[in-house]
Amino acid sequence: MNRTVNRSLHSAICRFFPALLFIGLASTGTAYAQAVNPLEADPRAAGAGGSIFRAQCATCHGADAKGIETIDAPDLTLLWTRSETTDGTVFQIIRDGIPGSIMPPHGFPDAQVWMLVSYLRSVAVAGTENRIAGNESRGEELFLNNCARCHRVDGSGGSLGPELSNITRRRSLDALLTSVRNPSANIARSYKPVAFLTAENEQVQGTIKSEDAFSIQIMDSNQTLRGFAKNQLRELTRDGQSLMPAFPESLLSNSEINDLLSYLQSNRDR
Ligand code: HEC
Ligand code: HEC
Repeated sequence: MNRTVNRSLHSAICRFFPALLFIGLASTGTAYAQAVNPLEADPRAAGAGGSIFRAQCATCHGADAKGIETIDAPDLTLLWTRSETTDGTVFQIIRDGIPGSIMPPHGFPDAQVWMLVSYLRSVAVAGTENRIAGNESRGEELFLNNCARCHRVDGSGGSLGPELSNITRRRSLDALLTSVRNPSANIARSYKPVAFLTAENEQVQGTIKSEDAFSIQIMDSNQTLRGFAKNQLRELTRDGQSLMPAFPESLLSNSEINDLLSYLQSNRDR
């Protein structure tokens, strides 16, 4: 198994050898990474970077680069949704690691680090690029009336659902529309629904925040964080229905959704 990984890694890098040589020559004498990926225009770079990623990074960040929550290894597909991220900053993190965490430094040649950057770019989540046409102040009102009890924007609002201040950077317009019309179609990470009966016969519903073999920590539908020993619970179900109610057209028209999303988009750089 290991040998296959190594072999495919090796062949991926060999296919890349001309590029490696070129960068080796071009970067002689520079101790710091340039800000622009020299392999940006090369379509093979992402593929080669993917092989390196699966061999060197996937144990912590997951084969899909979406992170592994139990060891706090972040979702790397979201890197470019932060305005401060550039190819150069990602290069530097891979090279230096993150001191004080388990994210190790990597002494690969520059070209291999750039291949990793190309790969991470290729799996990066695309946000909503275009300006959404809508009435922002109407959108704000709709948000306060329909959404704010569960979602924070600019630090105020509820926390049963995720913070939405920067959501248009992280999600496409299609994904946002689906979230509003049909929340259960794609349930956000760390917001998986759960329901059970406690030892005292209380019916509890909430979203799972963390869990191990013996205990479960949830935010209940009253937005209180609570922990339970699993052997005390009965009828535990993870039925897949989001705790967010669906908003069909009868509740929010398409143009009202545009107003709402244009309001959320107007918040993204604050
Ligand atoms: C031993 C586990 C481990 C390995 C192996 C590992 N990482 Fe990490 N990585 C982490 C953890 C944990 C963090 C978060 C550290 C922190 O912020 O405290 C992290 C953070 C990062 C970040 C910054 C993420 C952000 O949101 O700012 C990048 C980029 C990254 N890793 C890329 C890689 C790449 C590429 C590889 C393979 C060459 C790799 N990592 C290998 C555990 C790992
Ligand atoms: C009763 C609480 C509640 C209300 C009201 C509510 N939501 Fe949610 N929302 C949630 C929860 C819980 C999730 C996470 C589970 C999921 O993805 O379905 C969520 C998820 C989302 C997501 C997906 C976030 C992501 O990371 O992909 C969007 C977008 C969203 N809500 C928008 C809205 C909008 C817009 C409104 C008002 C029209 C609204 N919500 C009203 C609870 C709520």
